[in-house]
Amino acid sequence: MFSWFKKKEPELDRTLNYKSVMVDMHSHVLPGIDDGAQNVQQSVTLVKAMMGLGIKKIIATPHIMADFYKNTPETINRALDILKAELKRLEIDIVVEAAAEHYFDETFQELVDKRGLMTMGDNYVLFEYSFIDPPPNAYTVIQKMIEWGDYKPILAHPERYSYMSLDAIADLRSWGCDAQLNTMSLTGYYGKDVKKKAENMIDMQLVDFISSDMHNPRHAAAFRDALSTPYIKKVLFDYPLKNILLK
Ligand SMILES: [Fe+2]
Repeated sequence: MFSWFKKKEPELDRTLNYKSVMVDMHSHVLPGIDDGAQNVQQSVTLVKAMMGLGIKKIIATPHIMADFYKNTPETINRALDILKAELKRLEIDIVVEAAAEHYFDETFQELVDKRGLMTMGDNYVLFEYSFIDPPPNAYTVIQKMIEWGDYKPILAHPERYSYMSLDAIADLRSWGCDAQLNTMSLTGYYGKDVKKKAENMIDMQLVDFISSDMHNPRHAAAFRDALSTPYIKKVLFDYPLKNILLK
């Protein structure tokens, strides 16, 4: 009975969840300050989606990007306060903190010089590259982050930069920079090339953090669907993931 309906359901292994990962450290769930949640109701929807999949702590990372999202610690912390107040009002019990997803532009390099980056945990900094061109001075800036700023850099979703080879990701990690994989890359959400690269990164132990990069309900569904991919088990268990260091 109702088999016609069941066929529409994705084949989910209901025993899997993100409890072992514990901390989601890359998302756009703060209300109204970037291309993620546009109001606090949308924020709550995304937070509940993560909680339902076993996430115990969320570190929200709004974009800081000179051209589009001129966020500062003030704008980000204000949005964090709005979300926390709403979660408290609704008696939703989860730890939410904020850092940023810094875009690797000139403003970013000025913030490195001023030691003004937004951090998570023990001085970790999440940053992203352009999707079009590789940054020409990445090595210099990353070394400055580590040596001058005492930062621990994390590059967001290297599997999504088409110009970045697996060798280039290995080089980046040899410089002391961690790599964060978007779990939804494993579903083919960003295309089959990104999916293949994500799988290769896992096999080659080039992944330090995994996270949702959740902006909207479509991402929430893909974050859930990633749990039914064959590769997810490889990172959920017996893999040297660092998410737990941020708990
Ligand atoms: Fe992001």
